[in-house]
Amino acid sequence: MFDRFNRKINYLRISVTDRCNLKCLYCITGDEIKYLPKEKILTFEQICDVVKVAAAYGISKFRITGGEPLVRHDIVKLVKMISDVKNVKDLSLTTNAVLLEKYAKPLAEAGLHRVNISLDTVDPEKFRHVTRGGDLKQVFAGIEAAKKYGLKPIKVNCVVKQNSDEPDAVAVKEYCLKNGLQPRFIKQMDLEEGVFGTVEGGSGGNCEKCNRLRLTCDGKIKPCLFSDIEFDIKTIGIEKALEFALKSKPEQGGRNLKNIFSNIGG
Ligand code: 5AD
Repeated sequence: MFDRFNRKINYLRISVTDRCNLKCLYCITGDEIKYLPKEKILTFEQICDVVKVAAAYGISKFRITGGEPLVRHDIVKLVKMISDVKNVKDLSLTTNAVLLEKYAKPLAEAGLHRVNISLDTVDPEKFRHVTRGGDLKQVFAGIEAAKKYGLKPIKVNCVVKQNSDEPDAVAVKEYCLKNGLQPRFIKQMDLEEGVFGTVEGGSGGNCEKCNRLRLTCDGKIKPCLFSDIEFDIKTIGIEKALEFALKSKPEQGGRNLKNIFSNIGG
């Protein structure tokens, strides 16, 4: 399907939870974490209904995000349900890889094609600091498992202050080269300001080429990460929410003061 600016929209990113097992400094900025009550979170059936309608409209690429998707109970079952939908051609997942050592094999068997892994530093102490307590060893083990079970190509998302010349980013780049991973550098965004940034090595933030819509974990279709526009599938239904999102997709990103990464995914 095409939007008003003749962009082909063929990609849906699905946030399956607002919870995360890390608490990265740049992602969780307030003093208090507020999670959505369980009853607001879409069920697997509701998520799959959206996937079915979207696939029928010509969306063929799907990405599962969070929060951290691997903390959602029975995530492997959901991946299988989505991968079984007709016309789902590319199914990927964005993860911090903390739980990936355990899940890589069953995820691959359930039909997941590939993963994007968030990794900002290869220094264990810095990692512990930025993630507020994370263990880098688990991430490395998760990456090894993803390679072993063929969840490829593996892309690495690295948040930088300014650009990829920073020491941590240079080290991440080297690690990626050695391990056959594709690094992308995301400029740290100021969530309080709600303004967007671009991604070096990736397509995020390139509005002209944007091909995506998003589904939040509580059932809103969003046409743009950097806009407050959203349509609730629970009140207007899936078809209308998708159609309205398509029709209102802005030419360019602006501001988004309503959502944070933990409920819409990166
Ligand atoms: N700026 C840029 N990227 C962010 N992410 C989370 N918070 C921010 C922020 N403030 C990104 C992380 C992760 C993805 C899921 O969301 O890079 O890879």
